[in-house]
Amino acid sequence: MEKDPLILGIESSCDETAAAVIRGRTLLSDEIISSASVQAKYGGVVPEIASRAHSDAVDEVVMRALHAAGVKKEELCAVAVTYGAGLLGALLVGLSFAKGLAYGLNIPLIGVNHIRGHLAASYLEDETLTPPFITLLASGGHTAILHTKTKTESEVLGGTLDDAAGEAFDKVARVLGLPYPGGPHVEKLAREGKNTVPMPKMLKGLGGYDFSYSGLKTHIINYVDTKEQKGEEWSRADVAASFQSAALDILAEKTVEGALERHVETVTAGGGVVANGYLREKLQEACGRAHLKLVLPAKKHCTDNAAMIAAEGLIQYEAGNFSPLTLNARASIPLR
Ligand code: KG4
Ligand code: ZN
Repeated sequence: MEKDPLILGIESSCDETAAAVIRGRTLLSDEIISSASVQAKYGGVVPEIASRAHSDAVDEVVMRALHAAGVKKEELCAVAVTYGAGLLGALLVGLSFAKGLAYGLNIPLIGVNHIRGHLAASYLEDETLTPPFITLLASGGHTAILHTKTKTESEVLGGTLDDAAGEAFDKVARVLGLPYPGGPHVEKLAREGKNTVPMPKMLKGLGGYDFSYSGLKTHIINYVDTKEQKGEEWSRADVAASFQSAALDILAEKTVEGALERHVETVTAGGGVVANGYLREKLQEACGRAHLKLVLPAKKHCTDNAAMIAAEGLIQYEAGNFSPLTLNARASIPLR
């Protein structure tokens, strides 16, 4: 087995078609073709449109990644690809492409769980990172706090009981008349507002590391409806700022609590919501106070990308975990 294997990563679980090449832990290229602007017209991802966009883009994005890395496909040691969770049709495009390539080149196929890809993004940021660490995972589909004990084993300490954090951002964005994907737009608007709109404290009442977003979302819908019905003035920016703080403060607090309780000295994070500047600051503050080391992936490696799939591919390659060519795509892979 190669010491610093050359691995191609492919990601197509939602609306980004992405490919990246790593040599060992060194990222050589990182390409992405997004259909998000097309999806924005529909206010969310339309699965069939996503699948077609992946079909159009997958060949080109892989060629770009190989070219930018300055390598030939014949030099690859393995192809890592997201097989779930995600939109089935979208996943099948990347998975089928990866299978064809692996078969044609006679190299291993490595099916990657998208969520483990988000966890692996931190290795791209800090080449010296080694378990154990506590991770805040906050994406459009999942929100959880995990304890990674070895490179391949993580325990879920807790997570959302209903909506994921990103989903809550997307829903609140819609209420505020902001386009899809909502997260970056809510963040931008929140910068102009103040945290003055009362938000439910129920998130804090839940025990352990679990939390809930559905009450927060309903509270905002009711707040806006009531203001509109009464014809009272209200500030979209203040609602955005108050929501952002209610939704994210708890994540930073509970993540640090997890690290302290488990006596783990390193905290990492991953998933689209971790691109949020306010959350990054909160994590920095909370980890600083608790004297914990914090590894935050670059923002472009928080939202969906293929570099993280290649990084997780490397971990599976080193563990000798290869997938059969019969591997099927999976719409959901439970976290626990
Ligand atoms: O990880 P990701 O790209 O895809 C999934 O695996 O789900 O996460 C997408 C989610 C979306 O809900 C999006 O609104 C949210 O991440 N997001 C953000 C920000 N950027 C993306 N949420 C809050 N603030 C951001 N800056
Ligand atoms: Zn993701």
